[in-house]
Amino acid sequence: MVRYDIKCLRCGEKLPVKTWVWRHDKDNGTLSITYRGLEKHELNELLLKEYMDIRRYINILPVSLKYLNIAPIGFTPIINKKFRGVSVFFKLDYLLPSGSFKDRGALVSIAKAKELRIKRIIEDSSGNAGVAFSLYSLLYNIEANIFIPADAPSGKKALLKSLNARLHEVQGSREEVNRAAIDFERRSRGAYVGHWWNPFFIEGVKTLAYEIHEQLGLDKVDSIIVPTSSGSLLLGVFKGIMELKSMGEISNIPKLIAVQASGYARLCYELGYGMGAEKSKLADGLRIVEPPRIGEMVLAVRETKGTCYHVIDEEVTEGLKRLWSMGFLVEPTSAVVYAALKKAISEKVVEKGENVVIILTGSGAKMLDKVLSIVRT
Ligand SMILES: Cc1ncc(COP(=O)(O)O)c(C=O)c1O
Ligand SMILES: [Zn+2]
Repeated sequence: MVRYDIKCLRCGEKLPVKTWVWRHDKDNGTLSITYRGLEKHELNELLLKEYMDIRRYINILPVSLKYLNIAPIGFTPIINKKFRGVSVFFKLDYLLPSGSFKDRGALVSIAKAKELRIKRIIEDSSGNAGVAFSLYSLLYNIEANIFIPADAPSGKKALLKSLNARLHEVQGSREEVNRAAIDFERRSRGAYVGHWWNPFFIEGVKTLAYEIHEQLGLDKVDSIIVPTSSGSLLLGVFKGIMELKSMGEISNIPKLIAVQASGYARLCYELGYGMGAEKSKLADGLRIVEPPRIGEMVLAVRETKGTCYHVIDEEVTEGLKRLWSMGFLVEPTSAVVYAALKKAISEKVVEKGENVVIILTGSGAKMLDKVLSIVRT
């Protein structure tokens, strides 16, 4: 791997790379990983071409190859369809082993935890991140402590338990669940790996941008549509694009179009588009209103000349039905992208003849009853 630093984005201080860090304790700053002299390299010389999975990018990941061999995921397919004169490329990340894009971030985080000889991780999520962390913890023989809201669906709890996760149920909002998980880290000798903060998670997710570049060529991609809540997906894709740019690999920067759930749209709000009055019930994976990386998220949208949309349940329902009819068996949270595409075309953020990538982030298989009750109506 190219040597890297972990830096606090608030004060710029460098943090140790030989111990697990997820936040700068001194000032609560979020952390970012930067590779030394990346701009002097060409992508071509950094790739491990014998692999068509995440190991291909080992030189630009903060973990050694040995620790990715256990579960070398990646290279999800892209399917192209025409929609109202626009060429849409669907990136099928819901096909990753635990059923969402979160596998990328969870795998790199767990592999790093293994490298640092960590035996217990702590994460807060009732949904896809919890399942992804539990799955890779199982594969890497690490104890997973997952903090979830007490009212999380029983099916999700059963799934997490089947993956040997230790469940901690917390009464209260999603933010209270987060605080409980962070408190537990102080009391137990575990590592908090929560995707809201953890910089290794973003490193895993950035491989999405590298794959899209290798599969399509980012120079011809005009926009990328990403469902957004804590921002790990948005920031991962943004980081990948900016690294490719710094290597001179691309000259164009696609617009990042973030999509949020109405009523929980903190990023849209910060950008001046409001939160949305109706509170979405269907987009259950997009309910974070205090993302710690909000400043970075605003920057990612602004720097790429992108935008942000919030979507109501009626639009989620329509999106889910349309995507299923195209053969994309995604979950409601993931289906918000359809309404965003329509809005972007009608507002001419996306124009006829352009190429748009849509990340399909989560599988409908984990909540089949709910999904079928929507798509059958
Ligand atoms: C299916 C799906 N898509 C998108 C997101 C949003 O990701 P992030 O929290 O990284 O913004 C989530 C988050 O849970 C999700 O489960
Ligand atoms: Zn700091």
